[in-house]
Amino acid sequence: MCGIIGYVGKRKALPIILSGLHDLEYRGYDSAGVAVLERGHLSVVKCKGRINDLEKLLESRNLQACIGLGHTRWATHGKPSKVNAHPHTDCSGRITVVHNGIIENFDSLKKTLTKEGCIFKSQTDTEVIAHLIGKFYQGDIEEALRRAVKMLKGSYALAVMAKDHPDRIIGIRNDSPLVVGVGKGENFLASDTAAFLSYTNRVIFLEDKELVTITPSGIEITSLGAKRIAKKEDKILHTKEQVQKGGFKHFMFKEICQQPQIASKVISRYVTSKGQIKFKDFSIDQSVLEKFNKITIVACGTAYHAGLVGKYLIEDFTGMPVEVDLASEFRYRKPIIKDNTLMVAISQSGETADTLAAVREARKKKTKVLAICNVVGSTLTREVDSTIYIHAGPEISVASTKAYTAQLMVIYLFGLYLAGIKKTRSKKQIDKVLASLCQIPSKQKKVIESSKDIKKIARKYLHFGAFLYLGRHLNFPTALEGALKLKEISYIPAEGYAAGEMKHGPIALIDEYRAVVCVATDSFVFDKMVSNIQEILARKGKIIVVATLGNKKIRDCTKEIIYVPSVEEIFYPLLSVIALQLFAYFIADLKGYDVDKPRNLAKSVTVE
Ligand code: M6R
Repeated sequence: MCGIIGYVGKRKALPIILSGLHDLEYRGYDSAGVAVLERGHLSVVKCKGRINDLEKLLESRNLQACIGLGHTRWATHGKPSKVNAHPHTDCSGRITVVHNGIIENFDSLKKTLTKEGCIFKSQTDTEVIAHLIGKFYQGDIEEALRRAVKMLKGSYALAVMAKDHPDRIIGIRNDSPLVVGVGKGENFLASDTAAFLSYTNRVIFLEDKELVTITPSGIEITSLGAKRIAKKEDKILHTKEQVQKGGFKHFMFKEICQQPQIASKVISRYVTSKGQIKFKDFSIDQSVLEKFNKITIVACGTAYHAGLVGKYLIEDFTGMPVEVDLASEFRYRKPIIKDNTLMVAISQSGETADTLAAVREARKKKTKVLAICNVVGSTLTREVDSTIYIHAGPEISVASTKAYTAQLMVIYLFGLYLAGIKKTRSKKQIDKVLASLCQIPSKQKKVIESSKDIKKIARKYLHFGAFLYLGRHLNFPTALEGALKLKEISYIPAEGYAAGEMKHGPIALIDEYRAVVCVATDSFVFDKMVSNIQEILARKGKIIVVATLGNKKIRDCTKEIIYVPSVEEIFYPLLSVIALQLFAYFIADLKGYDVDKPRNLAKSVTVE
């Protein structure tokens, strides 16, 4: 979603801000803008479209300022346009603001401010913040911001600059990430560490309602009551190179190809040389874990599909019931959570608004929460009892791929770990599953090596107007995830369904214009899948199958087969999904779409 970068130091601010905005592009946006402050003059330049368009506008301006703000906007209130792009200024033109989040009471605030004489230029909720700060400003910009945010309801990460204070940027957050980049003789403020990683890996994560002031030589963090807060500095361990394409055409393809390597990394991090599962920094005691007899998983999008696989696996390994909830539904449905329930929140970013809200709901009821997360230091990881990191490295493509299989790897290990604690599986049984899990990276490589064949099938099917994805048992979440990938990046309507549900409705869709992707790897429900395939063929539907290499029966059904290597039944979710990621990727690429930044989508959904 929206992105913020602020810089104050001795260097020219504009190139740093623009490179920061480029590094935030992956989050998704539709307009962009910058504000710089130089010799008492505030210049604001913004436009609809891409950062490149903004750069063109800036070419003719000779802006030498050493302080400035930049923003990428993902429209919520008001269409994507120059006037709605950030930064926004107050009526006096002295104060300028960039904002991520949603101000829920902006309408009533706008009415009051308008009555008081403020003239609004945009349709955004953000502009009320600029006017509020302007209204309260009496020489102390920090105090004006404190008074302004006390009036706000909703989520915000704010960065503010004022003409009268050319040495500083101030910021504050509530339910939306904001992080300080600590430099030498310069400092940064951003919504995401990616924005300043080229310059520093030293960071301070802000908590809600902490106000920060950055100057070239200092960082001061205070409470809403203006009391100083001491904060510890963290280090970002990934490098700038990890957030570059490195010769790949798209981040999505790079990230798909990284999956075997990440699966190996997860194993080496969490499985000791003696074959024991040990989660580093895990802080829920075994004695506490032993007492849980139910698990509730909450997540959104792709992470939710990982949770669905988790249900099959953990129930199988431990005999414990596992519920999986869409976080956006869980938060509003008065959930019943008993004492003996462990909540597991799965999120790549750790910043998804709905997942955070679901976790907060559970924590109000004193439920223990475990996060499975990728981003170190993210809000989720700071609010839960313990986190198991998936170590997938930065995922830049909006369509999640490597985070999904890394989440799955952790779920397999966590399920086995619980089985060990609850003694539902013997050591020998666990060792056997672990030994097979260790073979997965090499099998995933084989799927990636079949890219060319997958591309051929993609080329043949890219003109189909709609797709249905079917799977049973563990292949059902894979079907859902395959369909999600296709619709996200190729904009082709694609629906994932449990194959057993076909006769209850979706079969009505089948005719010669419908393409059906069947995930039919070897399993105890394989024959049932074959029956589904026959029913589709009988109605002239076009079939593409993901099947196990060596399976002869499937060859009688269709010519369009994507083979994955043979593994034990429970491991197919780690392989088949890669075939479907590649299929979606090639369709979108062949159609000429912006694969990494699909329209209307944002990388982390930090607002509801
Ligand atoms: O960061 P999270 O894992 O919490 O994000 C959840 C979803 O927003 C995310 O998986 C989304 O569905 C992706 N675009 C899927 O490719």
